[in-house]
Amino acid sequence: MPSGLSSILEKKDHDRSDILAMLQCSEEEAPLLYRKAAAVRDRYVGNHVYLRGLIEYSNICGKNCLYCGVRRDNSRIQKYTLTNDEVIEAAMTAHKLNFGSIAIQSGENSSKVFVDNIEELVRAIRKLTGGELGITLSLGEQTRETYRRWYEAGAHRYLLRIEASSESLYRRVHPEDEMHSFYHRLDCLRVIQETGYQTGTGVMVGLPYQTMTHLADDIIFMRDFDIDMCGMGPFIEHSDTPLGVRGTDNLFLRERFNLTLRMIAIIRIIMKDINIVASTAMQTIDPAGREKAISCGANVVMPNLTPARYRAGYLIYEGKPGYREVNETNISGLNFEHMPGMTLGRGTWGDTPHYRRRLSKE
Ligand code: 5AD
Ligand code: SF4
Repeated sequence: MPSGLSSILEKKDHDRSDILAMLQCSEEEAPLLYRKAAAVRDRYVGNHVYLRGLIEYSNICGKNCLYCGVRRDNSRIQKYTLTNDEVIEAAMTAHKLNFGSIAIQSGENSSKVFVDNIEELVRAIRKLTGGELGITLSLGEQTRETYRRWYEAGAHRYLLRIEASSESLYRRVHPEDEMHSFYHRLDCLRVIQETGYQTGTGVMVGLPYQTMTHLADDIIFMRDFDIDMCGMGPFIEHSDTPLGVRGTDNLFLRERFNLTLRMIAIIRIIMKDINIVASTAMQTIDPAGREKAISCGANVVMPNLTPARYRAGYLIYEGKPGYREVNETNISGLNFEHMPGMTLGRGTWGDTPHYRRRLSKE
């Protein structure tokens, strides 16, 4: 007689109660979930880990998310913006090391100077690498026009985490003002998809006030939105933020870590051929966190290429690692002994089959 979990894993489609059961399976059963997710990953997208060289362009942010160390009101960090030469140098390092692609991330800024400059950088990087280096942007909420300009300049993937797909939870972890509207964020995600980007989203796991039902609904949200890429990570308190003090009912970090592994496994089992990031936040809690996420179905890592002297300024959460993790002998910083059977996907954009499949359905 198969256990509850193994009969759920045999199903073709999963409803909300199945997702909740997977999220809440026992510690003894969890490896079954993880193994299934890894097998689905191998079958639908292969046993490769793709690299996105991460360039943290600027920590100047107009928003004030209650959880984030880079928020506008945190005056304890030194603000910085990389020069264009620094961005291009980091991109060329990614190209030279055969990463295949980069991701440019930044605090949110919609000024004309910022928008124009990103457009120029995207064009320059495409030109300098003969179109060989893929470009993902993660630059927050922008206008339809801005998303279009950056797309036409040559960016082809965009990540905008919904952070929490429940409106009420979203409102509890953001200031109550127009700048932090749940519906505006949702609209942006739709516009990104309509513009033609491979579209990524995700949530934080273990936010204060978050329940298992919220997490199950996050999975359903991502499935219904038909995303191409997913980035999820555990919430980690940052002491210079309003949510920086661990409340008595918050989960422990290790519980958030384990729950994130389950979320990764479940989204892999349900969406099959999307790209899923093994986030740096996982590595913050556990030195082998990214490898463990890969063993549970993830297939992308984002080694940090931001020049070392700026990194202290991009502490979204405390304890964020990443100093000199990239070098020529181990460009991903990953320990492959922790994930037998995996290989590094180099010199390729590492696009998802999901994106092409989604377009052919439209
Ligand atoms: N803990 C974990 N992740 C965080 N992020 C922001 N603050 C935190 C935190 N305290 C994540 C958000 C954001 C991404 C850039 O970093 O999901 O989208
Ligand atoms: Fe700014 Fe993003 Fe941090 Fe919010 S999560 S404060 S938008 S950098």
